[in-house]
Amino acid sequence: MEVSQLKQEIAKLKKEKNAIILSHYYTRDEVQEVADFIGDSLALSRKAENTDADIILFAGVHFMAETAKVLSPEKKVLLPDLEAGCSLADSCNAVEFEKFVMAHPGYTVVSYVNTTVEVKALTDIICTSSNAIDIVNSLPADEKIIFGPDRNLGNYVKSVTGRENMLIWDGACHVHEQFSLERILELKKEYPNAKILTHPECKKPILLVSDHVGSTAALLDFAKKDDAEEYIVVTEPGILYQMRKECPGKKFIPAPPTDAACGCNDCNFMKLITLEKIYRSLKEEIYEITLDEEIRQKAEKSIKRMLELSK
Ligand code: 13P
Ligand code: SF4
Repeated sequence: MEVSQLKQEIAKLKKEKNAIILSHYYTRDEVQEVADFIGDSLALSRKAENTDADIILFAGVHFMAETAKVLSPEKKVLLPDLEAGCSLADSCNAVEFEKFVMAHPGYTVVSYVNTTVEVKALTDIICTSSNAIDIVNSLPADEKIIFGPDRNLGNYVKSVTGRENMLIWDGACHVHEQFSLERILELKKEYPNAKILTHPECKKPILLVSDHVGSTAALLDFAKKDDAEEYIVVTEPGILYQMRKECPGKKFIPAPPTDAACGCNDCNFMKLITLEKIYRSLKEEIYEITLDEEIRQKAEKSIKRMLELSK
């Protein structure tokens, strides 16, 4: 099917089935075009919690669809490709994480939303990149904290909040770990007036040279309000589609990865979601996310605690 026909068929199916498409900023441009809502992880969780659609199709990765199902158990949640995972979520195995938590009684567990539902069920409060600092700051100053699974975000939160008692799980995202400080500085020489916008999943030396660090939505918002004309964007390049759309006249330069041969920093998982797969997913109502009810309820508690705190 042609792209335009696929888009029409998707729109028809959405209407027929009272379905909503929620998309993350890292998906393909044409996928973002058929979405009813595009957002960062926090905004997507809120939208999943509040929608009155019968079907939520998640144009994103598995942990995002799982989060939607945790918050909307009565709804059908679809992920068009079950292979759309996340290297960061994979870097935190629930069995190993449970051993770590058990070995540290008295610690409050704060986990990044990029985790499996089983890890969320072992967590006291979930956070996202847009509220991690506020969530940690909401805890008493002397609270003993386990932060997982992203070591870069964890170290960033630790340095901003000045928390002494924070144990950080050693996980990372393969996309954000790939950026090269050297190549970003070379770009900065080429574009001396460009501001550097960076996602907190990047390594510390890159965060230190950045003008703004934040979630995907926060980076977009910064670019919209700021008066610079050029930006070097250090996160997955899918976000550039909305940046260019919402800030016409500004120049957005995707930061290159360390390995020049590899060319770009696409998240291979996000890019698995295509229009063809969305069409098939809506038509056949595949692949449905199902969860163990006990695990779901535990995970719901930790996600709701975050949503309450970041109202
Ligand atoms: P955001 O919550 O900033 O959108 O990040 C999600 C993510 O997967 C980053 O890699
Ligand atoms: Fe996961 Fe990294 Fe892809 Fe985000 S960019 S979904 S953290 S693998």
